[in-house]
Amino acid sequence: MIKIEKLIHDYIKRDDEGNVAGTVRAINGVDLQVEPGQFIAVLGHNGSGKSTLAKHLNALLFPTEGAVWVDGMSTKDEKNLWEIRRVAGMVFQNPDNQIIAQVVEEDVGFGPENMGVPTEEIWTRVEQSLAAVGMLEHRKKSPNRLSGGQKQRVSIAGVIAMEPKCIIFDEPTAMLDPNGRKEVIKAAKKLNREKGITIILITHYMEEAIDADVIFVMDKGEVAMQGTPREIFSQVEKMQELQLDVPQVTLLGHELRKAGLNIPVCILTKEELADALLGKEDTQSGSCGENSDASDGNKPGAASAQGKEETGNGDQS
Ligand SMILES: Nc1ncnc2c1ncn2[C@@H]1O[C@H](COP(=O)(O)OP(=O)(O)OP(=O)(O)O)[C@@H](O)[C@H]1O
Ligand SMILES: [Mg+2]
Repeated sequence: MIKIEKLIHDYIKRDDEGNVAGTVRAINGVDLQVEPGQFIAVLGHNGSGKSTLAKHLNALLFPTEGAVWVDGMSTKDEKNLWEIRRVAGMVFQNPDNQIIAQVVEEDVGFGPENMGVPTEEIWTRVEQSLAAVGMLEHRKKSPNRLSGGQKQRVSIAGVIAMEPKCIIFDEPTAMLDPNGRKEVIKAAKKLNREKGITIILITHYMEEAIDADVIFVMDKGEVAMQGTPREIFSQVEKMQELQLDVPQVTLLGHELRKAGLNIPVCILTKEELADALLGKEDTQSGSCGENSDASDGNKPGAASAQGKEETGNGDQS
């Protein structure tokens, strides 16, 4: 679905008079690959390059060096731009900046209308998209009367109405309350499961990443770690070095283990912790064993649960 090869992105800094004053390297040699239908989470502290990376996937930014392919189309080729933006939709932090119409259903129909989709089909798409995010009953409402989570789900419906293969969420829950956060993540997971839409979720909430197929951790414009949630979150110290947390329950499990309790290395849910404390058999579905607290998350095959090789292989498409 997505292939990134040796991507470098430099932002140009200008002084007050508009003269070039230097460059900021926001992406520094990223190689990665996303397979169709995967649920990917991207983590990384502020300024690590997550949003810059996201904008490359939607052809809002172009490589300084290297290349990005979305559904086989290079973002460097201008004739691909509109198709790339249709195939890879984006959902941003602030739903208020993404909703333009006065009525929910009109907002969702805006994208397909702009693309010249016939009216009848627009309405079918609007209904299906609103139903997919559980917002059909609010179709006649003004977006102003919706909660943050509901507004964000309308933004998502607007993206789905374009029939994308992939949706990139750049911190879609950052401005929402806990309920709104849950609604939005639930909607994203459902689209992935039921419609097979590839999801790339950039988030600061570790709990939102525990069901991902693969997690990429960004640091200083590079992919510092990649692997399954268990492989990533078992490396508590390494995550802390990258100024990141692990899910609270994982941290608790880690501390109890350090204190001498017989707890597996990578607890991801409350249920797993409860089972471990009760001395039940290992119920973890992942492959994270006693050895997996090795510090190198970049080891080949770190994403092997998805049958993938490590990134950077130029022969892969
Ligand atoms: N338009 C811009 N002009 C110059 N530098 C920029 C621009 N946008 C981002 N940067 C710089 O590029 C680097 C990466 O920024 P980016 O926004 O991609 O990080 P991020 O991981 O999304 O951060 P956050 O978690 O705060 O959203 C940072 O050093 C940032 O200051
Ligand atoms: Mg960002």
